[in-house]
Amino acid sequence: MLVIHGPNLNLLGSREPSIYGSATRAEIDLELVRRGAAAGAQVDCEQHNGEGAIIDAIQRAAVQHHAIVINAAGYTHTSIAIRDAIAAVGLPTVEVHLSNVHARESFRHTSITAAVCIGQICGFGAQSYYLGLDAALAHVKGLRP
Ligand code: DQA
Repeated sequence: MLVIHGPNLNLLGSREPSIYGSATRAEIDLELVRRGAAAGAQVDCEQHNGEGAIIDAIQRAAVQHHAIVINAAGYTHTSIAIRDAIAAVGLPTVEVHLSNVHARESFRHTSITAAVCIGQICGFGAQSYYLGLDAALAHVKGLRP
């Protein structure tokens, strides 16, 4: 399982905590790895500020992972190239957001990537990642004979 954090999520903990909460990226990753291990799955976590680096990570995942959990952050609302990468590799992908993007500025209401994901979870703070991981693990388990 690959978890991808997009731009500015390296600043979690200090970045607009009233919107994104006080958990750091390191704390969230530790919990994701712990939960994955408890479910018998290896979880790797990466953070990239650049669009191209996120696309490279998605392409690498195709050979190394069974599924992706992605918070593409601001690129969610702008990146046709990240959407194309998710569609191209064909791995089950869950989109997550800490904040409820639908309750915020109108430019955050549209996700370019959601339609090529198996689902979207938003608004639960760090829990969005954990719910996303559970959803991805359950999906992968359901695919196995
Ligand atoms: C975000 C929501 C995006 O609109 C924003 O650009 C982010 C974080 C979230 O997790 O709530 O950087 O993806």
